[in-house]
Amino acid sequence: MARGPMTEPGEIRLRRPVEADHARLVGQVDEWWSGRKVHPLLPRLWFQHFTGTSWVAEDESDRLVGFIVGFVSPDRPGEAYVHMVGTSPGHRRRGLGRTLYERFLADVAERGIRRVTSVTWPGNRGSIAFHRALGFDAEVGPGTQNLYGTPAYPDYDADGDDRVVFSRELRPPAG
Ligand SMILES: CC(C)(COP(=O)(O)OP(=O)(O)OC[C@H]1O[C@@H](n2cnc3c(N)ncnc32)[C@H](O)[C@@H]1OP(=O)(O)O)[C@@H](O)C(=O)NCCC(=O)NCCS
Repeated sequence: MARGPMTEPGEIRLRRPVEADHARLVGQVDEWWSGRKVHPLLPRLWFQHFTGTSWVAEDESDRLVGFIVGFVSPDRPGEAYVHMVGTSPGHRRRGLGRTLYERFLADVAERGIRRVTSVTWPGNRGSIAFHRALGFDAEVGPGTQNLYGTPAYPDYDADGDDRVVFSRELRPPAG
C-alpha cells in the first residue's frame, strides 16, 4: 500500500525520498555523524533504487531533519537491511529516529519480512543504545569480541573496520 506524506508530532513530516533529496542530505551527514566522513556511504543510488523502503523527514521550514535508507534482501529470504538512519542533531531524542525505523519496519513487514538486520560501529554508543532501545540484539558468535562493551566482529568490513551486527525479529502485521 502506498503511503502519502504524514504529519508527526512537532510538525515533522515524513515522506518518500526523491532523487533531489540526495544533494540536500549528502552535504549534512558528516556533521550529523559528529564529523566522521560517512558521506561516501550515501551515494545517489539510495535515492534512485531504494525509495520504496526509505523515508525522509522534513521540519516546518522544509529542512531535511532525518532519513532512513534500507532494502529487502534480494538473496536472504525474509530478511531486510537498514543501511543508514540519521536525524539532525537539533531533533534528537524526540522519537524521530524511532518513527523513521517504524516506517521502514512497516514497509518490510507488509512484504513478508520477518527479520531486520543492520550494522554499526562498536564505538558509536548512540547508535548502539538506539538499536537496543528498538529491540535489536547484537549478534554473538564465532568471531565476535567484546569491543567497547558490545559483541562485535573485528575487521568486518575492512582492516580496522569493526562492526556490531544487529538483528530483530518482526511479527507478522495484524489483520
Ligand atoms: C542514532 C540516531 C539515529 C537516533 O535518533 P533519534 O531521533 O535521537 O532517536 P529517538 O529519539 O527515536 O530515540 C529512541 C530511543 O533510542 C535511545 N537513544 C537514542 N539516541 C540515544 C543516545 N545518544 N544515547 C542513549 N540512548 C539513545 C533512547 O532509548 C531513545 O528513547 P528516549 O529518548 O525515550 O530515551 C541519531 O542519534 C543519529 O542520527 N546519530 C548519528 C548517526 C548514527 O549514528 N546513525 C545510526 C547508525 S547508521
